[in-house]
Amino acid sequence: MALTGRLHDTVAWPVHTTRLTLRPAIADDAAATWEFRRLPEVSRWLTQNTGTLTEYRNQFLDSDSLAKSLVVELDGHVIGDLMLDVQDAWAQTEVADRARSTQGDLGWVLHPDHTGHGYATEAVRALLDIAFDELQLRRVTAACFAANEASWRLMERLGMRRETYNVRESLHRSGEWLDGMVYALLADEHRATTSEAAAG
Ligand SMILES: CC(C)(COP(=O)(O)OP(=O)(O)OC[C@H]1O[C@@H](n2cnc3c(N)ncnc32)[C@H](O)[C@@H]1OP(=O)(O)O)[C@@H](O)C(=O)NCCC(=O)NCCS
Repeated sequence: MALTGRLHDTVAWPVHTTRLTLRPAIADDAAATWEFRRLPEVSRWLTQNTGTLTEYRNQFLDSDSLAKSLVVELDGHVIGDLMLDVQDAWAQTEVADRARSTQGDLGWVLHPDHTGHGYATEAVRALLDIAFDELQLRRVTAACFAANEASWRLMERLGMRRETYNVRESLHRSGEWLDGMVYALLADEHRATTSEAAAG
């Protein structure tokens, strides 16, 4: 059973790309996503450690989080997950209504067995199309540790712009304060890139 939310309701799921299928995450995806999220090389970059499958399932089934989550399938198997969190942009009080639900914050995780083939690029490109064309967002953002090179390289492949570099601002569970970065992309920038690519 899929929980509902704007992301889940607005789009005609599943979305197919050349090699992948994207669909809303459901309760039954907890075990498949735990299999890769629990791996140290993956969890070191994630906000929350997974813990046991039971602990993780409780986090995963939180309705707010499930409503923002998609899974990525390759040949019917879940190989990754994505997040799109629709947010209000900052605005002055008098125009705050117009800024509601105009931004999206993105996240991504791929099973290490499937990195290096461009699957994250393909999946997140489709997520950008969903964010801008279907949800009509005007800006998307994503944050990562500066040391997470695979993640910021992905954002640069997708045409996202590095907007902030914050020195020793984020506390990692290792105890170290790490540099962090925020990337962003505007709807018109994404459309310009997409039409240039289509024109060859
Ligand atoms: C971030 C993450 C999704 C990136 O995965 P990735 O495999 O590097 O990204 P892609 O799937 O787009 O693959 C790109 C790689 O495949 C290669 N590739 C092969 N075919 C490709 C294609 N058709 N299109 C694009 N790239 C292709 C690219 O050259 C690139 O390799 P390189 O890094 O050696 O240059 C992955 O490292 C991950 O899940 N990390 C752990 C979780 C995490 O950090 N999440 C983000 C927290 S901020």
